[in-house]
Amino acid sequence: MNKLYVFDTTLRDGEQVPGCQLKSEEKLEIAYQLESLGVDIIEAGFPVSSPEDFKSVSLLAAEIKESTICGLTRAVKEDIDVAANALKHAVNPRIHTGIGTSESHIKYKLNSTQEEIVERAVNAVRYAKDKVAEVEFYAEDAGRTDNEFLAKIVEAVIHVGADVINIPDTTGYCLPDQFGEKIAYLMNNVPNIDKAILSTHCHNDLGLATANTISGVMSGARQVECTINGIGERAGNTSLEEVVMIINQHNHIGVQHRIDTRQITSVSKSVSKMMNMPVQPNKAIVGSNAFAHSSGIHQDGVIKKRETYEIINPEEVGAAGSEIILTARSGRAALNYHAKKLGYELETDALKAAYKEFLLVADKAKNVEESHLHQIFQNTKTYA
Ligand code: KIV
Ligand code: ZN
Repeated sequence: MNKLYVFDTTLRDGEQVPGCQLKSEEKLEIAYQLESLGVDIIEAGFPVSSPEDFKSVSLLAAEIKESTICGLTRAVKEDIDVAANALKHAVNPRIHTGIGTSESHIKYKLNSTQEEIVERAVNAVRYAKDKVAEVEFYAEDAGRTDNEFLAKIVEAVIHVGADVINIPDTTGYCLPDQFGEKIAYLMNNVPNIDKAILSTHCHNDLGLATANTISGVMSGARQVECTINGIGERAGNTSLEEVVMIINQHNHIGVQHRIDTRQITSVSKSVSKMMNMPVQPNKAIVGSNAFAHSSGIHQDGVIKKRETYEIINPEEVGAAGSEIILTARSGRAALNYHAKKLGYELETDALKAAYKEFLLVADKAKNVEESHLHQIFQNTKTYA
């Protein structure tokens, strides 16, 4: 019960982002990396959406042996037929089918009623279950769906064989306590919930995707849907690296995953490069500044003991190491640290003089280069 399944949708929700589209061979290259990373389920695409996406899902289904390969569909027979066909060579195929369940989706998008939506959901799951062993049902916009109705539709689809129930916060609306309560409500009010796994799929419109996902896990969800670097529709999806590192940092959450965290940085770089999506420098875990220290007070602490200002050892996520960046806000300890790295041994007075000169350079230049440092240290006439 404490196994947490990691479902990666970089190649489906992430790939929907303008400019991120991939050819099937490129998807396969990323899929191999996700498989090696330890992702349990790879959502490979939306097979009915285009011939190239059909090709991608078929290719991944044929080549990826360890991770489950999943294809998205609407609750429509044709979509399910096409997905089943794309997945026919998969060792572990999964169809992810579903429909909007919120009042807004039912009324404005689907022009339907709750009764009709339950019927369409049940028919889709039953149809899909006839084609593949594993079926996941998504209740689109579950974040804004009334809990009582959500429990009703979840019970109905589990009854016809849904193995996993995805509770997406499609619009990134929920607060962490609301989302956690929603998962807890389903755990406590769906009579057959023991026959399925609840999954989170949170979007980041309010910057709460990771917090909501963790709240969902703490309330009983045992699958998390996420993407590398948090890419995805609009403000993105929950980022895989954040969820995994939170679980590793906070043992009391009490769930286990299979992710080999030492591969996180290299996968992040590949996804960013291949999908043309730069990672913001201050992005948690994988941003270029995630382990960089630039203020004098912090640098002094990190030089004395890394843990004073770092909760994660960069090696744990495959990053190069902690960095002491020199800016006009750096202190003497940081300058001395760089002097030593470059082979200079500075006496107290020499360090004082070098620091004075350094501040003049740092106030002018945005980045203090190694050549600047050599010049400063040589000017103070001290070397090892
Ligand atoms: O955000 C969402 O609701 C989705 C579904 C298609 C699972 O991506
Ligand atoms: Zn989504």
